[in-house]
Amino acid sequence: MNFGQPAGVALVIGSGGGLGAALVAQLSGAAGAPERFQTVLALGRNSLPAIDYGDEASLKSAADWVAVQCAEQQLELRLIVVASGFLHGPQGQPERSFSQLDAGYLTHVFQVNAIGPALVMKHFLPLLPRQGRCVAAFLSAKVGSIGDNALGGWYGYRASKAALNQLVKTASIEMTRRNRQSVCVALHPGTVDTALSQPFAKTGLKVRPAEEAASDLVNVLKGLTPADTGSLLDYQGVTLPF
Ligand SMILES: NC(=O)c1ccc[n+]([C@@H]2O[C@H](COP(=O)([O-])OP(=O)(O)OC[C@H]3O[C@@H](n4cnc5c(N)ncnc54)[C@H](OP(=O)(O)O)[C@@H]3O)[C@@H](O)[C@H]2O)c1
Repeated sequence: MNFGQPAGVALVIGSGGGLGAALVAQLSGAAGAPERFQTVLALGRNSLPAIDYGDEASLKSAADWVAVQCAEQQLELRLIVVASGFLHGPQGQPERSFSQLDAGYLTHVFQVNAIGPALVMKHFLPLLPRQGRCVAAFLSAKVGSIGDNALGGWYGYRASKAALNQLVKTASIEMTRRNRQSVCVALHPGTVDTALSQPFAKTGLKVRPAEEAASDLVNVLKGLTPADTGSLLDYQGVTLPF
């Protein structure tokens, strides 16, 4: 998608992560970056204001702050990228078997991968303009595809990303009613060298640097049209099955 000139404001949520930070750099016009927004806003658990998916009030406050930034700069919010996500951590590890299913891990993985992004939809999608091109992109994962699941395992992560994909599809329909030029998609970044993938990177599997993955994702964002809305796309722009 060409955001036109001036491109306006881009917002990255989950900016402290490997892909989130690389996307902020890319959208800000890092060396060789194809896209440059006048303002790139970055929100995460350690930004000011900070967002916390366990505290909806923090999302509302951050959305109010974004609205003020746009108004003060007299710029439209044209792009929201949600780069947050959880696979492993103190709350648990991805399951190999149904015997390992754990309510605490499931609650957390759904909180970060599905409920948090849903609340982002609630508080941030209304900030997108009612006219002109605008994009909301949510980083998902190919393993969230039910149609593509041939290996099993990773119950919670797969299911939470499948839930995210359904939320994206549903929001895309509502967004189109508000603005026919809007696009709302789920994106699979490929396997990327970040803290999230690090314990699972196998020899032989193609693992790309975050900078390269962010560049690929921005290229996909640029190429999106309203016909793509509601889709799950990979980093090459190929549509994946739900
Ligand atoms: N890396 C891969 O190979 C790969 C493959 C497929 C899909 N993905 C997806 O790509 C996205 C980015 O992942 P990444 O590789 O960049 O992982 P990462 O480096 O571990 O970053 C994770 C991100 O999630 C946010 N986050 C984690 N827990 C959170 C919580 N409780 N509340 C709010 N935010 C939280 C962090 O935000 P802050 O630190 O800014 O607060 C951070 O931005 C995720 O959706 C992931 O599922 C990654």
